[in-house]
Amino acid sequence: MTTNRTFTMIKPDGIENGYSGAILDHILKAGFKIIAMKYTRLSPETAGQFYAIHKERPFYKDLVSYMSSGPIVAVILEKENAVEDFRTIIGATDPTKAADGTIRKLYAKSIEANAVHGSDSNENAAIEGNFFFSMLERF
Ligand code: CMP
Repeated sequence: MTTNRTFTMIKPDGIENGYSGAILDHILKAGFKIIAMKYTRLSPETAGQFYAIHKERPFYKDLVSYMSSGPIVAVILEKENAVEDFRTIIGATDPTKAADGTIRKLYAKSIEANAVHGSDSNENAAIEGNFFFSMLERF
């Protein structure tokens, strides 16, 4: 079941700039189905836990501070080949390097405030989805 699921977050810049509706529309039009969705806010502690994999990176502290600076939308998505196809529609991490028509090219501000997160593997999709949602909150 998790094989065809991925996890995304609309980040604080995406919400702040009023792009959450357009981003969700883009995702749905690309054929993804929403399995669970939550409008919430990360504390510095929970943002730090979510991005613990990047703990040793030089951008970690700023990333944690940025990700806890405003509300986010957490979403579990389903589609065949979900992880890979979602990474294709969001584009490169750095929006200046993202392909035309991708979500980050259209809506992101910078490499840090890059509008959306997308899981990089099936394993991380399951871990990240579980971070935000209990079994009772999803199909
Ligand atoms: P995301 O796909 O959510 O995964 C890790 C996040 O770290 C990434 O998007 C960016 O928001 C941030 N990030 C990655 N590389 C850099 C970088 N070089 N400088 C600042 N932030 C970065």
